[in-house]
Amino acid sequence: MNTVTVVGLGYVGLPLACLCAEKGNKVYGLDTDKNKVDLINRNQSPISDDYLTSKLKSLKNRIRATTNAVECIPSSDVVVVCVPTPIDKNNLPDLTALMESISTISKFIKQGTLLVVESTVYPGTIEEVVAPILKKQGFDAYKNDVFVAHCPERIDPGNKRWTIDNLTRVVGGITKEATDKAAEFYRGIVNANVIELSGVKAAEATKIMENTFRDVNIAFVNEMAKSFDRAGIDIIEVIKGASTKPFAFMPHYPGAGVGGHCIPVDPYYLIEKAKQIGFNHKFLSLAREINNSMPHYTVELLEDCIHKLKKTIKNAKVGVLGLAYKANVDDTRESPAFEIISILKTKGADVVAFDPYVKNLSNIKDLDGLLQKSDYIILVTEHDEFKNMDLNMLKKHKVLVVIDGRNCLDKEKIKSMGILYHGIGRS
Ligand SMILES: NC(=O)c1ccc[n+]([C@@H]2O[C@H](COP(=O)([O-])OP(=O)(O)OC[C@H]3O[C@@H](n4cnc5c(N)ncnc54)[C@H](O)[C@@H]3O)[C@@H](O)[C@H]2O)c1
Repeated sequence: MNTVTVVGLGYVGLPLACLCAEKGNKVYGLDTDKNKVDLINRNQSPISDDYLTSKLKSLKNRIRATTNAVECIPSSDVVVVCVPTPIDKNNLPDLTALMESISTISKFIKQGTLLVVESTVYPGTIEEVVAPILKKQGFDAYKNDVFVAHCPERIDPGNKRWTIDNLTRVVGGITKEATDKAAEFYRGIVNANVIELSGVKAAEATKIMENTFRDVNIAFVNEMAKSFDRAGIDIIEVIKGASTKPFAFMPHYPGAGVGGHCIPVDPYYLIEKAKQIGFNHKFLSLAREINNSMPHYTVELLEDCIHKLKKTIKNAKVGVLGLAYKANVDDTRESPAFEIISILKTKGADVVAFDPYVKNLSNIKDLDGLLQKSDYIILVTEHDEFKNMDLNMLKKHKVLVVIDGRNCLDKEKIKSMGILYHGIGRS
């Protein structure tokens, strides 16, 4: 049994803390957010997530959350850092939370502790940013005063097939001993392979590559969707067709925009770092540009339909379905919904928005209320409640146009009711 402190109790840190407790470790959670800490100490999840809600209930106070590093870091054998690594308004990496948390940890950590960073970072961060902060407090990571490693988190919130427990992990340390210690720790908590890489940079680069792979493939399919739409070809039918090839094709799907704390963020980490060492990631930058264009494209689709009806977007009553960045979660970070709403408002539309997972940011209380108030609909998030809605409600509430930003509605049925339908790459 280890004493483990998880630093940052969010979408990544909280499931990890639960897993460590379940596997018999003594677990602390350190976070700067007092509300989160209080909720967790009452066995309540600060995140709307069935898995976390039931885990916290069944673990009954086996995670001690605190805002005070003195309470947990000095007694910990393992410290795992899961703080946010966002971008700033110029799309540059913002390592403030990482640097602040490491600085706090370095003041209280004991010799020989395993310190793992799970937060996504650009290759080089652990050696160039984390190690020097530890050095200031007299800990030389190259001499194993503290064993420092990176183990990128791969969790996909809401995914029931692949969970924190069964996802293969990769680890890389500043030293071979740190790699070995980190691998041993993860082998003790996950029911999956733990792969040891040659070093910390390889581990950092692995995560950035995984998420950048997603971003460029989504950009590719978004571009195909725009092109095929002009040619009157349904992209979903084409993806289905191409997916029948048993090798060398992996389906990705077009949509109203890429959101979340990872896919639209991580490529910028690499783009910026590479720039500093003299490499220009043209392809990655273009992918970001294409994906960033999707909220505008989605609103343009609506405008085209409105013009077909000889009406204008000014004062149009538009209902936006979904604020979260993906299906059946409450996470709104980098969600395209907010940009879509902002573009609509700039054009003078009268906008209502509803998300069953994000009620505090919805300005109408339910789906029925939204449909009642809207002549035009843009579906941004593929929540089950929207995907499975009774489409007859559209007719009942006299909806004129449906823009299906996730291609998840029955287009033929909608069209058969005399409603204009346009998806992303299908109409
Ligand atoms: N969300 C995902 O699906 C996902 C998946 C894989 C990797 N990641 C990566 O994991 C990291 C964490 O992401 P997340 O989604 O869990 O973020 P989050 O915002 O949900 O949680 C981060 C937590 O850290 C806390 N925090 C901030 N500064 C702190 C500090 N100085 N000391 C202690 N706590 C602090 C915040 O209060 C918050 O509770 C990021 O680097 C992200 O890129 C996220």
